[in-house]
Amino acid sequence: SRAIKPVTSVAAQNGLKKFSTTSQKNFKVVVAGAAGGIGQPLALLLKQNKLVTKLALYDIAPVTPGVAVDLSHMDTPAKVTGHQGPDQLADAIKGADVVVIPAGVPRKPGMTRDDLFNTNASIVRDLAACVAKNSPKAIVAIITNPVNSMVPIASEVMKKAGVYDANRILGVTTLDVVRAAAFIGEINGVDPQTVSIPVIGGHSGVTIIPLLSQSKPAVKLSDQAKIDALTQRIQEAGTEVVKAKAGGGSATLSMAYAGARLTGSVLRGLNGESNVVECAYIKSDLTEATYFANPVVLGKNGVEKNLGFGQLNDYEKKLLKAAIPELQKNIKTGEDFAKK
Ligand code: NAI
Repeated sequence: SRAIKPVTSVAAQNGLKKFSTTSQKNFKVVVAGAAGGIGQPLALLLKQNKLVTKLALYDIAPVTPGVAVDLSHMDTPAKVTGHQGPDQLADAIKGADVVVIPAGVPRKPGMTRDDLFNTNASIVRDLAACVAKNSPKAIVAIITNPVNSMVPIASEVMKKAGVYDANRILGVTTLDVVRAAAFIGEINGVDPQTVSIPVIGGHSGVTIIPLLSQSKPAVKLSDQAKIDALTQRIQEAGTEVVKAKAGGGSATLSMAYAGARLTGSVLRGLNGESNVVECAYIKSDLTEATYFANPVVLGKNGVEKNLGFGQLNDYEKKLLKAAIPELQKNIKTGEDFAKK
């Protein structure tokens, strides 16, 4: 029989205090868009995750097999395979437990995430169709923007294929949480890893709602103007990076970090660890928006429990009110595209 190993290293990597003593399972993770600015560092981080035994890297870029060879020289257990072009996609996807999707174009200065829709919608649609066919039980984590519309597209594709499970499709909003914690850590003068801050809604502009009133520790900001400024900085943090990169793309390294954290949490949930909580953008009936991000418990079948978002103060209620119509519009755009 197999040795029972505590997953301390993974727990430590994710800043967890608690660790589980369940036996370690073998998981296959696919990164679709693995040769890109996010894909490569994301693959680098996942290659170091002890829960990953197979890491399949898919992209249309010619460098993809080389990225796989490069990572395969790292002395960690995960076996890395490279898959380039649509002909090799099914092979990459088969047997997957988790499929992480950062495939698609990023923003340039002056662009909104919605400007990416036309290019990225068909990429996500085709990848989702391949998952539906080859690995219908896989958890799909979508990084590709606009996330608010991509999750509805993938969901509709899964419905059409008759394999839809709302608990297995997540929009990755972890970077918003990571950013909020980084900024609060700086303001409070504490280690950002000790900050707990829910960010709800969606992943673009006004749909990003940091619940600063629920921050633990409490944010050390006295007046409302400063709360407002911090809220706007979190909402526009992606644009801060796009501007700073001056045409060279959007956030890639911090996104890879956030994506590896979310994937690691999904794997810990699949592995039977309890109380694994992350914010994610999922099918939801909490508000008038039919997809919504907030803290969820991740378990053996993906989303195990929607934890909701608790009590909002008046300021946060106003933010929510502004976010809902935008979310509804983004969701409809995705659903209309998928139904075409
Ligand atoms: P990138 O252009 O550096 O990489 C994208 C990769 O996708 C490229 O390697 C490209 O060859 C590949 N690709 C294109 N079409 C493909 C297809 N049909 N199948 C497989 N791979 C395909 O872009 P980057 O910076 O890695 O960004 C990727 C996406 O992530 C963008 O849509 C960006 O907006 C989004 N993003 C999302 C964030 C979030 O918080 N959810 C944060 C930052 C970026």
